[in-house]
Amino acid sequence: MDAFSKPLLMVLNGTPVWPPPLWLMRQAGRYLPEYRAIRAEVPDFIALCRDPVRAAEVTLQPIRRFGFDAAILFSDILILPWALGHGLAFKEGEGPVLPKLRDAAGVAALDPAKMASAVAPVMETVRRVRAGLAAEGFDHTALIGFAGAPFTVACYMVEGGGSRDFAATRSMAYSDPTLFGALMDVLVEATVGYLSAQADAGAEVLMLFDSWAGVLAPSLFRTHVVAATARIVEQMKRLHPAVPVIGFPRLAGLMVAEYAAQTGVDAVGMDTGMDLTKAASMVGEGVAVQGNLDPMALVAGGSALQAATADILIGLRGKRLIFNLGHGIVPQTPPAHVAALVEQVRAT
Ligand code: CP3
Repeated sequence: MDAFSKPLLMVLNGTPVWPPPLWLMRQAGRYLPEYRAIRAEVPDFIALCRDPVRAAEVTLQPIRRFGFDAAILFSDILILPWALGHGLAFKEGEGPVLPKLRDAAGVAALDPAKMASAVAPVMETVRRVRAGLAAEGFDHTALIGFAGAPFTVACYMVEGGGSRDFAATRSMAYSDPTLFGALMDVLVEATVGYLSAQADAGAEVLMLFDSWAGVLAPSLFRTHVVAATARIVEQMKRLHPAVPVIGFPRLAGLMVAEYAAQTGVDAVGMDTGMDLTKAASMVGEGVAVQGNLDPMALVAGGSALQAATADILIGLRGKRLIFNLGHGIVPQTPPAHVAALVEQVRAT
């Protein structure tokens, strides 16, 4: 199977494929016993992201079990700020913890010159996954590389970790636009370098996770989500014209129309709250849509899962759909429910 007959690449390049290509955000992770076994060998999550043998292995685990149409590089969006020299720790049950970036000295301390060597193991993972997919006969499975979009990465850096509303980040964007703009500029350029290295190493698709895009008011969304993403996509299209880009502006609501029209992405990931049929008509035929099954429907399983899956498949029938969740799979998801989902989508 040549590259253009991989279903995911066909949909991204403009051709609808039915049944639609299928993969799941966070498809490698704690809901899989085989992931937990590897994780137990490497208690430090950052060390796992920087261990090409194990990271490639956990990337392939869900492909072996479910035969998904995409493998997504096993890493994390916060590896990029870490590679720029910003601190990062993952605390059990607490999520990520970072130093709070609140002033110009914090931006000046970021060192893009450090990045290439710090992320070299990630590029080795990309090469190993590509080789592993070919060696294990997954000819239909495309490899997705990714980064956090600059706004979402800035959220974690300013806040110092997760947050309900990212209030400190949003107030900095209003009260000190020069400082926040300087941080965004560093992140835009670093993201281009990071994604470009992944494409060089063999990533066939790139995805930008803007998980907190929807916390912004429209005027700031236009600057820090739409324009920042457009700057990245424009450079990526120049450097890697054959590598499609998927954008995921989570919780964007109505702003998804401007995002689709103005960023240059090839597909837009829709979150769980979107009416997928209406969202698809808002973004138009020029952009594929990815999504958006509720991860909790996958936890529930049974007839609730079947009905929620059927809604998506009926609503988007024959369109450029990439079937996915509306947000990441959660650890309590029974793998048997994932198998049932795959069977239903494949039989459509
Ligand atoms: O399978 C895949 O999707 C590929 C790997 C991947 C991970 N994180 C692995 C991971 C990807 C693409 C991400 C993206 C990511 N990371 C996002 C954007 C998507 C989203 O969910 O909104 C964000 C915001 C992060 C930051 C992050 N990483 C948080 C908040 C946490 C803690 C929460 C949690 O689930 O534990 C992580 C840790 C993380 N990233 C885990 C995994 C498998 C769990 C770590 C573990 O094994 O203990």
